[in-house]
Amino acid sequence: MKRTLSYLKPYSGKVAAELTFKAAGTAAELFLPLIMEYMIDEVVPTRDVRLFLLMGGAMLVFSVIALVGNIIANRMSAVVAGRMTHDLRYALFSRISYLKSSQVDKFTSPSLISRLTSDSYYVNQSVARTLRLGVRAPILLVGGLVFSFVLDWRLACVLLACVPFVVTAVVIITKKSVRMYTVVQRCGDGAVRALQENITGVRVVKALSRTDREIEKFGKVNAELTENEFKSNRLTALTNPLATLILNLGLVFVILVGAFTGAQAGRVLAFLTYFTLILNAMLGISKIFVVLSRGIASAHRIEEVLATDPAMPVGGYPDGDARYAIEFRDVAFSYNKTCNNVEGITFAAERGQTIGIIGGTGSGKTTLINLLMRFYDVDEGAVYVDGKDVRNYSADELRGKFGVAFQSDFLIADTIRSNIDYFRGLDEEDIERASESAVASEFIKGVEGGLDYELAQKATNLSGGQKQRLLIARALAGNPEILVLDDSSSALDYATDAKLRKSLKERYSACTKFIVAQRVSAVRYADLIIVMDDGKICGKGTHEQLMQSCEEYRLISLAQMGGDL
Ligand SMILES: Nc1ncnc2c1ncn2[C@@H]1O[C@H](COP(=O)(O)OP(=O)(O)O)[C@@H](O)[C@H]1O
Ligand SMILES: [Mg+2]
Repeated sequence: MKRTLSYLKPYSGKVAAELTFKAAGTAAELFLPLIMEYMIDEVVPTRDVRLFLLMGGAMLVFSVIALVGNIIANRMSAVVAGRMTHDLRYALFSRISYLKSSQVDKFTSPSLISRLTSDSYYVNQSVARTLRLGVRAPILLVGGLVFSFVLDWRLACVLLACVPFVVTAVVIITKKSVRMYTVVQRCGDGAVRALQENITGVRVVKALSRTDREIEKFGKVNAELTENEFKSNRLTALTNPLATLILNLGLVFVILVGAFTGAQAGRVLAFLTYFTLILNAMLGISKIFVVLSRGIASAHRIEEVLATDPAMPVGGYPDGDARYAIEFRDVAFSYNKTCNNVEGITFAAERGQTIGIIGGTGSGKTTLINLLMRFYDVDEGAVYVDGKDVRNYSADELRGKFGVAFQSDFLIADTIRSNIDYFRGLDEEDIERASESAVASEFIKGVEGGLDYELAQKATNLSGGQKQRLLIARALAGNPEILVLDDSSSALDYATDAKLRKSLKERYSACTKFIVAQRVSAVRYADLIIVMDDGKICGKGTHEQLMQSCEEYRLISLAQMGGDL
């Protein structure tokens, strides 16, 4: 909570001003019943018009102060809460952007999304509400009690006797509702998750005609969320009627006691007003507790992310063999730290060489890239780039060496040029050379505006192969030392794939290539082919060597190309 509150600091001046306005407005409100009582009981019987007007004027002045003070304060609190949430959300977004992949895995992305959206909203609500009621309610409560005692201590005792009942009711209900809101928030995560899975997997869902089932699945999550929301709302909805009941009972007693002690009408009336003010104050305090508890739960969820240190410790590892551009030495790694996803990985390639990684889905190909680029840290062994452990590089230095095209990478809704350049300010020449090498220039010339052609959201106005070629062009445009293509060729036809390989060889000969593929043709001419099977290397060497030595490779090759080539 402390961390979240620190985001209020820049606005402390505004907060102080807000609280002052609020306090002034509330104090003015407290004087109104007192003046009214004086008017009814003292001024009216004397029929003194001048005094009557004077008192009426006083009431008017106090009313205006109350009104203006409250309005200004409410506006200011909305502004302060809004700005503070803006800053908090910004900090959260940048922290999420820097999180390590393993940390994102741990939080899960639906949960990060709801922390950025609904949780920051709850923090906003609780700050705004607390600023508005935080000083008003206590002033009304204490002031109301003091003023009633000044008016008539016997009636005030009746009032005081009701307070414990209201407090007990409020405390019990608030405590319960806090627990319920935590459950509601968890259910909210579930709903976001269901929606996200459905949207990202929309084609699979549709292709397998699972839409109904997905809707049914969401229906369940939604029902659970609604049920829990109902429960907590039903509970908090109880507070008002319950408090009103206690108030009404109290009022009956005030009138009774007033009648017996011979209190004047104005006094009883003023009392009723104070009673209502006090009751509202208590309801206000209970509301603060409710939104605050929800806000605190949300603030904790946000702080959990903010407190996560995304820094990758750098340095301290022995260096490897400087001859190699890429070297994996006895690498083992597990995502969930229970069973290894890859193990016993050892291979090396010199500068300018091409490494081909082939293997079925889930065999660990992408994991090797993740380790090479240090999206995750190895559990055993080491990965070296240019003879230096990847853990000895700063993130920028390491990633600066790479040009990458991932399996399902994203394209932005911008021009083709911006998608290839990707905020790097590259030369036109590099962009053109890259798009030509990625066999993209033909289709780029074919679309309206060429490089200035605007892509739709998620590049839906391009085919899968065209998208893939743009991604490869992006990877190449920065003239990387190491090119990583994760299954990029599977969306390309054989002829295009062959052209790509040819231009890579001719124009990017100094660049070390790390090519993941499912097709033998894509790695056929690699200097070193690694055959992955269930997280282990089951064969390495050139195509010819593997055809001799590796049964799995020979089978894939036979199945795909009838054994020639
Ligand atoms: N972020 C992740 N968290 C947990 N397990 C993962 C994660 N990414 C991949 N895996 C698992 O690691 C194994 C290898 O995955 P991957 O390297 O993506 O395979 P490939 O790229 O060869 O299809 C699979 O069993 C997959 O389920
Ligand atoms: Mg993969």
